[in-house]
Order: sequence, then structure tokens, then C-alpha cells
Amino acid sequence: VLRHWDKVRTIRVALLGLGTVGGGFVRLVEREHARIRDRIGLEIEIAAILVRDREKDRGDVDRSLITTTAVDVIDAGCDVVVELVGGVHCAGAYVRRAINNGSHVVTANKALLAATGRELFDAASANGVQIGFEASVCGGVPVVRALRRGLAGDSLESITGILNGTSNYVLSRMEDGLPFADAVKLAQEHGFAEAHPTLDLSGEDAAQKLEILTSLGFDSEVVSRSVHGIEWIDVDDVARARRRGNVFRQVAEARRVAGGVALTVAARELPLAHPLASVRDENNGVVFRGNAVGEVMLTGRGAGSLPTAAAVLSDVIEIGSA
Ligand code: NAP
Ligand code: HSE
Repeated sequence: VLRHWDKVRTIRVALLGLGTVGGGFVRLVEREHARIRDRIGLEIEIAAILVRDREKDRGDVDRSLITTTAVDVIDAGCDVVVELVGGVHCAGAYVRRAINNGSHVVTANKALLAATGRELFDAASANGVQIGFEASVCGGVPVVRALRRGLAGDSLESITGILNGTSNYVLSRMEDGLPFADAVKLAQEHGFAEAHPTLDLSGEDAAQKLEILTSLGFDSEVVSRSVHGIEWIDVDDVARARRRGNVFRQVAEARRVAGGVALTVAARELPLAHPLASVRDENNGVVFRGNAVGEVMLTGRGAGSLPTAAAVLSDVIEIGSA
């Protein structure tokens, strides 16, 4: 293994949120930090953690790091503020403050980026800091890096994928015969769903992710947006589709059309031989179609604690190694 470093550097992290993803991030840092230090010379130190409820059981997490006062964490002078609280209003205020303080930001928050991404990236650029957002699309699957780096030399024709783990998990459980409401409850128990699961089931979460991928992959404006969810599908619809040799998947697609890019999110009945039909449970799958490269497909865990934390940690490492 090549060593590219002489002296170990320390990156101090302020963590906002200790829920599904934040808790996974703390566990993963604990598990991986020695390997990261030895391999790339980066020591990751979580210096402060923001939560809403101080009394909740936090397992093994060092309670002396935990506070409910946002400014104590954001203004702690850390190199990176990792935003994992979710939502748009508080999270947006926290991220703006971090950027104005000169801290880099890492976030998994696609709702925030879809709503205010342009303003936040302008502010980051004015303050000379980076925003890492690998975890905001497809959880642990590195689609953001694939688009920004691996496919940077090609012109994209289309992006087609399953971008919402909860909807995919619900459709998969219905294939096993579970009613819709029970499947949604299970997805919530696993921590896959948003705080408001309507965002997942209505197609809006997938649309937000598609917008992020579109802004990375296409230079043209979005000229149309059509978003439909999976709420109308019940376990009998799924069984009938199976008898026809098909499965339902919530498919998000960005496609070059005259004058720009058209975005659609809708449940589609796919034949079993379709590459997205075999993407089950909370997994996501994305097919990028490039002019030169043809089709490139990435699949993997699109939601959940540790997979998403792995993407967050990859951004922290990238910022710390720059
Ligand atoms: P979560 O389990 O609900 O955790 C949210 C955490 O933030 C909790 O620790 C909560 O504190 C804290 N929090 C919420 N609002 C706060 C506020 N106003 N001030 C201070 N702390 C606050 O959420 P999550 O599932 O980890 O999701 C976090 C973000 O990651 C969201 O943007 C989500 O879209 C994104 N994401 C999630 C997944 C996933 O699989 N779950 C995957 C990819 C991306 P308490 O613990 O005290 O309640
Ligand atoms: N609620 C989201 C999903 C989390 O189910 O895909 C991952 O972004």
C-alpha cells in the first residue's frame, strides 16, 4: 500500500444530529478511525454533537460531547460541520452559520439542497469552504462522485433509477404479500423513511435526488417535472403484476428533450429482465447513459444507518485529505 502522508493530521468534526445517520456516523468513525489514520494519515475527532432531546438514551456515545445548544456546536471552531438533522429550516440556518464561520459542511439532506442548494453553494464558494453531499443521493452508493469525476468527460443522455429506498422496500415487502401500511411501518422501524414518510411515498424525495443528479450531470435547464408516488398501489396490484411477469418499481428519470431536461418520477411496471427489477429492499440502482460510455449502472444500499454514514464519512475524509 502506498503511503502519501508524512505526519498525521487531525480533522475536528461538529456533528448536528444523532439519529439514524448521525448515530451510524459515530459508530463508523469509532470502527474505522484507526484504519483511516494508518492508511491516509487523517485522525477524525468528533468534538461536539447536537441533539434535540438531551434525555434520550444514546448508547455508548460520550455524553460529555452532547448538547442541545446549536451555537455551542456550530461555533466550536471545528473544521467540518456534519449536518444530519434533516428538514429545511433549522438545518438551513445551521448550515449557513457554519459556512459563514468558515467551516466546511457535509450533509445528507437532499430536501435542503433541492430547496436552497444554489444559495448555499454560492455562500460556500464566497467563504472558501466545501459542501460534501455524497450521502444526499442513494445513501451508500457513490453516485455523486461517479457523476462529478468518473463521468465528467462524457455528455449525459439520461439518468434512470430507483432513488428512494423506502418506496423500494415497501414494494418489495408487498411482493412478499405484506399490506402497504404494514410495509411502510417496517420501513420506518428500520430508519429508512423520512421524518414525514409522505416525502418518500409521494415520489418527492426521489424527485429531490433526481434534481441534484440533474444539476451535476446536465448543463441544460429543467423544462418539465412530473412526480407521482406509489400510494395508489396495493398488495393485489403487486400480485397481479407478478402474474404478468412484472414488478412495480418507483422509477425516476431525467432525459434530454428539446430545450432542456425533463424529469419524471412514477411507479412503473417493469419486466423481471429489466436491470432495475432486480433492485430490491432498501437498495437503489441508477443507470447513467452517456454519449461515449453507453450505460453505466450502480446499485447498493440507498438508505439506512451505516451505509449512509459511510457516504458521509467519505466526504469528511475527502475534505480532510484536500
Ligand atoms: P433522524 O433519525 O430523525 O435523526 C435526526 C437527528 O437530528 C436526531 O438526533 C434529532 O435529535 C436531531 N434533530 C432534529 N431536529 C433537530 C433540531 N432542530 N435541532 C437539533 N437537533 C435536531 O434522521 P435521519 O434518518 O438520521 O436523517 C438525517 C438526514 O439524513 C435527513 O436529511 C435525511 O433525509 C438524510 N438521510 C437519511 C437516510 C436514512 O436512511 N435515514 C439516508 C440518506 C439521507 P433527537 O435524537 O434528540 O430527536
Ligand atoms: N428516506 C430516504 C429513502 C432515505 O428512503 O431513500 C435515503 O435518502
